Amino acid sequence: MEGNTVTPDSSSKPGAGKRRTPETPGNLRPWLMEMIGKAIAAPSIEDLRAIVRSTRTQISGFNGFQPDINSYSERNNVPILTAESLILELDQILAARTIERARYYLRRMQRSTVEIKTNGVNDINLNRWKDYEEILTDSLWLFPKRDRSGPHNAWYWGNFVPQIPHQLILRFTRKGDWVLDPFAGSGTTLIEAMKLGRNSVGVELNSDIAMRTRQMVDTSVPRSSKCCVVHGDSASISPSDLLRISGGLKYRLVILHPPYHDIIRFSEDPRDLSTVADVDSFIRMLGKIVDNTLEVLGDGGHIALVIGDKYQNGEIVPLGFLSMNMMLGRSLVLKSIVVKNYDATRGKRGAQDLWKYRALSGGFYLFKHEYVFIFRHQI
Ligand SMILES: C[S@@+](CC[C@H](N)C(=O)[O-])C[C@H]1O[C@@H](n2cnc3c(N)ncnc32)[C@H](O)[C@@H]1O
Repeated sequence: MEGNTVTPDSSSKPGAGKRRTPETPGNLRPWLMEMIGKAIAAPSIEDLRAIVRSTRTQISGFNGFQPDINSYSERNNVPILTAESLILELDQILAARTIERARYYLRRMQRSTVEIKTNGVNDINLNRWKDYEEILTDSLWLFPKRDRSGPHNAWYWGNFVPQIPHQLILRFTRKGDWVLDPFAGSGTTLIEAMKLGRNSVGVELNSDIAMRTRQMVDTSVPRSSKCCVVHGDSASISPSDLLRISGGLKYRLVILHPPYHDIIRFSEDPRDLSTVADVDSFIRMLGKIVDNTLEVLGDGGHIALVIGDKYQNGEIVPLGFLSMNMMLGRSLVLKSIVVKNYDATRGKRGAQDLWKYRALSGGFYLFKHEYVFIFRHQI
């Protein structure tokens, strides 16, 4: 979410000042805590509501909004507060029918104002979970438009939308963790990792693409975190090399976005998953890459597979479920099957009528979805 951080003017009474001030945990929080304390101690529900109502009015009147503050980065180890979510919480308190219920909400607000609680896997502050509007928790991901911000210019045929690695990195890593993408392509995962302050390594078989992606990450993104593009075959790259890059630290997230077998041929290299002769060989080769990456994925880390199905000789080949079954045979626990909307490729978009005709005459449906299978590594 684009967090609007609210800060009363520290030099005057809350709401009285109209000066924009940077967020300093020292001013808003004590005032809010005092208000919550008074409201909890109020002798009647009417008195409690009067305090809450006046606090709400003052918060609505603050003009200390800072729209560019990223609400995911909890600074100085205290939660960042947004005006919108504070107002929602106050409205919930005002709607409470009994004083006990209102006090319960007030105590919860008291805790979430000063304490950070995470699940240890990511940096999401569970005490302020309502602030994370942008983070998806449903198994259907509908992205109406691709994120084209910054270096994401979608030049690579067969790339994925940046929103996929964005969601996965926020849910399954913490700042400073290491992310591995064994099918790096144009580096979409690497850009998202850097934007979110995670370190990343991408492996790419095609030397021209690897070089172009390396140039892109070296030049276009502020280097607050480490990022490395390796030219190589993910089935045979040495785990010790991958660990050397991360300074010996195990990776916390692996994002696999392999070719969907031969739907797009990425090269003529026999090690390229898009060139293998049949589906069984494709699944076997993907299995080798999964085994190789599991060597460097820490216990409790996550591995996500992004893949779609294909049609061949008049029948559907469920690449997604075949790959999922292959992965279930490893030391992995399946956590989610996400279905994501799939936009037609540029080629197909131009020939939509023809595809509709083919679907009608061939008795099949055009693919409008692909999968994100998410597993937890359990050693
Ligand atoms: C579907 S694309 C990934 C695109 C990427 N997610 C992006 O956003 O640009 C698959 C990539 O895997 C690469 N590839 C295929 N076989 C590989 C292998 N054995 N090792 C490493 N990369 C491989 C292809 O060259 C291609 O760039």
